[in-house]
Amino acid sequence: MAKTANQAENAQLKDIISHAKEYGFVYPSSEIYDGLQAVYDYGAYGVELKNNLKRLWWETMTRLHGNIVGIDAAIFMHPTTWKASGHVDSFNDPMIDNKDSKKRYRADVLVEEHAAKLENEGKEDEAKALTASLARLLEAEDLAGVRDLIVNTGIACPISGTTNWTDVRQFNLMFSTQVGSVAEDASTIYLRPETAQGIFVNFLNVQKTARMKVPFGIAQIGKAFRNEIVARQFIFRMREFEQMEMQFFVRPGSELEWYKQWAETRMNWHLALGTPAEKLRKHDHEKLAHYANAAMDIEYEFPFGFKEVEGIHSRTDFDLKSHQEFSKKKQQYFDPEINQNYIPYVIETSIGADRLFLLTLCNAFTEEKTEEKSRTYLKFHPAIAPVKAAILPITKKDGLPEKAKEIVELLKYDFNIIYEDAASIGKRYTRQDLIGTPFCIAVDHQTLEDNTVTIRHRDTTEQERVSISELHGKIAEATSFRRVFEKI
Ligand code: GAP
Repeated sequence: MAKTANQAENAQLKDIISHAKEYGFVYPSSEIYDGLQAVYDYGAYGVELKNNLKRLWWETMTRLHGNIVGIDAAIFMHPTTWKASGHVDSFNDPMIDNKDSKKRYRADVLVEEHAAKLENEGKEDEAKALTASLARLLEAEDLAGVRDLIVNTGIACPISGTTNWTDVRQFNLMFSTQVGSVAEDASTIYLRPETAQGIFVNFLNVQKTARMKVPFGIAQIGKAFRNEIVARQFIFRMREFEQMEMQFFVRPGSELEWYKQWAETRMNWHLALGTPAEKLRKHDHEKLAHYANAAMDIEYEFPFGFKEVEGIHSRTDFDLKSHQEFSKKKQQYFDPEINQNYIPYVIETSIGADRLFLLTLCNAFTEEKTEEKSRTYLKFHPAIAPVKAAILPITKKDGLPEKAKEIVELLKYDFNIIYEDAASIGKRYTRQDLIGTPFCIAVDHQTLEDNTVTIRHRDTTEQERVSISELHGKIAEATSFRRVFEKI
């Protein structure tokens, strides 16, 4: 029977997940205990890829822009931070439990999934009406209405098959813990659900000590934690993840101009990294959060459809103003050009490092089938490939390993290099294809005579003979971040 589009997409995601595990990119966390839902560990090649993506983002922000500097704020923050930011009161998802299976679901996701099912069955009008009702009820914060919608539509629990639902309740996504050694003295603090607040509370520290003038930005990479209930689609939605956020502080009134500019700059960054334009799209938010006056997502077409990778938000002066109110400390900037004090407005660019990793993996995963052979390889941009080159003596004798190791010495200080002398050269090429190494350098008997080697290129499998003295320059040229920067 022919596969439906959905089945094919799921099969592709499954292939990517098993490839990621088998070839050292991503494993389920604490797998020997059967894992922990929505938490993952990065393996030998995964950590290299993720570090390269983070470094590329960091250097784009801090090196290409003379007016952006970085910080590294702590994960724990004073609990009032989260009151001021609005997270304590409104960082919630509407949850519903099935009384028979005892399983908990996000109420909105149950309805959305049912609507998607109706759409797949060709009942598009019914699906549209359902999502419109949901939007209306959520907007009005009518949780009883959301429950009625679920029950009246006959949406059943996928486990028990019943519609025996509890009320819908709001569930805060922040993880909390205690600080203090004695129970009575202990106070509740939160694991940060976004890195942005670490930037806001340090706004004046950074502005003064780095002598920044508006407009300027502060960038940060760090862990964030959310008690996500719908935890699916591999590393797309995790409970512990990393964010790369940049808050750009601007003069009030100029924010929408800057918003437009950052939306374009960030889209160009994704294109420069080799993501095809047809796999990316902008999605403007129709319903804006109370603190925003414009917001959009950059979406990527994952095997499970177009989904958000990065958010660009014009956050007005909401956060700084709120911190000023709660802390009773002025969060103002004196602008010498216009001789005025004001609370700057903020444009935020926020991308999940793990989501970018998944995009990169999906985009790189290539299966080629011809009549003679089939080949799977990861077509990473050389600048972010986990391993830049593999040095492979074609035999283990005749002094070839020694010669190959001389080449490793020549390259290892500047590039992540692998040396391998076991198995046939064909098998070793295949293994490097599977982890996305752009260059395989074969050392053979001719190398001993004339100091030349063969470079085998991952994407074309073409080979060229070059002198050892050219290797460093060729690899540097292909893997330099400059290759990406120049296209932004
Ligand atoms: N400071 C703004 C903010 O946190 P967000 O849209 O909630 O906005 C920004 O998150 C980005 O963080 C998302 O576009 C996504 O890439 C990433 N992200 C959010 N929740 C995530 C999760 N549970 N797992 C992985 N990445 C996540």
